[in-house]
Amino acid sequence: MGRKVPIISGIALSSLLLFGSTVSAQDTEALHATDVPSMKEHFKESFKIGAAVEPHQLEGESADVLKYHYNSIVAENVMKPETIQPEEDEFNWEEADKIVEFANENDMDLRFHTLIWHSQIPDWFFLDEEGNPMVDETDEEKRKENKELLLDRLETHVRTIVERYKDDVDAWDVVNEVIDDGEPNEQGLRESPWYKITGTEYIKRAFEVAREYGGEDAKLFINDYNNEVSPKDDHFYNLVSDLVEDGVPIDGVGFQSHIQLGWPTIEESKEAFERFVDLGLDIQVTELDVSIYGWPPSGEYNRYDEIPAEVLSKQADRYTELFDLYKELDANISNITFWGIGDDHTWLDDRASEHSDDGVGKDAPFVFDTEFNVKPAYYAMMGMENPNVDEESEENEEDTTDENKDNSSEETDNTSEDTTDENKDNSAEETDNTSEDTTDENTNNPAEETDNTTEEEKEEGAALADTSTNFPIGLVIGTIILQIGGLLLFSRKQVQS
Ligand code: GLA
Repeated sequence: MGRKVPIISGIALSSLLLFGSTVSAQDTEALHATDVPSMKEHFKESFKIGAAVEPHQLEGESADVLKYHYNSIVAENVMKPETIQPEEDEFNWEEADKIVEFANENDMDLRFHTLIWHSQIPDWFFLDEEGNPMVDETDEEKRKENKELLLDRLETHVRTIVERYKDDVDAWDVVNEVIDDGEPNEQGLRESPWYKITGTEYIKRAFEVAREYGGEDAKLFINDYNNEVSPKDDHFYNLVSDLVEDGVPIDGVGFQSHIQLGWPTIEESKEAFERFVDLGLDIQVTELDVSIYGWPPSGEYNRYDEIPAEVLSKQADRYTELFDLYKELDANISNITFWGIGDDHTWLDDRASEHSDDGVGKDAPFVFDTEFNVKPAYYAMMGMENPNVDEESEENEEDTTDENKDNSSEETDNTSEDTTDENKDNSAEETDNTSEDTTDENTNNPAEETDNTTEEEKEEGAALADTSTNFPIGLVIGTIILQIGGLLLFSRKQVQS
């Protein structure tokens, strides 16, 4: 497939020249994802490189990029409880099977996300035999019965899925997001219906059933977000170490890593990871995306081409430090999975739109852009020199950023400080709500929507954007063209007369 995409077309180039503007190497072309070294090859000695996908992404260009760069996939939505078992005992395998088949055909690892979760789960799980919400029950005897009923349902759900896919799945998210962002109780446990009805029993039972039917080789994970920051980091760690101590069959921890340019700090991530190394558990980064916004997301860029180069370059720096850390700990990290493939399709767009002033916001969390061309972040994570940044323009950039430095770094610092607390307290809820709200949209192909909004605009915008570097050759050529035109007119007149 691979193709190079000239950002500035011939026509646009001639008009730019006529107006005396010119282009730096930086702006001339972006390479397509399939024309650069493969990420999975590059990191093959360290860890798998994964992507979250919807079934519709398993065809066409996104599939080509997937096959070329990734050796692991996970379902963005179609393996969640609401899709897999929408009604009691009615299992729906159709969409999930597509992902399993794709992984097998292309020799990719498969992560299963997620057996047990409080979100994107149908209500019937938590209704008693009479159809009343179990959480409202006050009678002690009935509460016990409800607990047993719910644990039976959990067992059926986990057993049925694990039996079906045990030869296909390389890592199971057994439970997802069981820790709260705040401290609703001493252990920081999320007070979901699972917890309210069974206490922590559901966590243990889910792991035990997964082990029983998945066998000794099944790799069982507990997955969460914001588990690098206080107080969630401690609560998460304490729960996991208690589970390990109690002999609960747990093999690894998942760090979702829905993170930002400056948050959490790389030191926080490092510390959080290292604790689990000491516990002898495998670590996976399960849902990586690096939002260009702080918290709450300002969503100030309505279109992809409005995102300033400077922001993408900060994002590249962030990817450098992240992958430096992942490589440093690669003996204990087995998989780095992005929560998407390219910037054309990301749940963060919905989050940015929700918080922006005008209800439209575009995010850009990945290393490939909306057309699967490589971004500065790609070169950064690969430890490669970005061929589109020439020394001269880098020097210029340094000069100009020096002037801006004081202001901009202050701004950035403030942003991360301001937003950290809110992140800790609120982003959990946000994440949940958003993912629930956006699931349908996600399933209904937002990729296409996003594409439509940006495609024409991008061409136009990209052609006109970044024409900042100047030299007068345009003027010279413009003048020559005008002169030739003049001469032609003059000679036609001569012939006519
Ligand atoms: C959480 C869940 C994922 C997904 C994301 C947002 O991280 O684990 O399944 O819903 O939120 O898309």
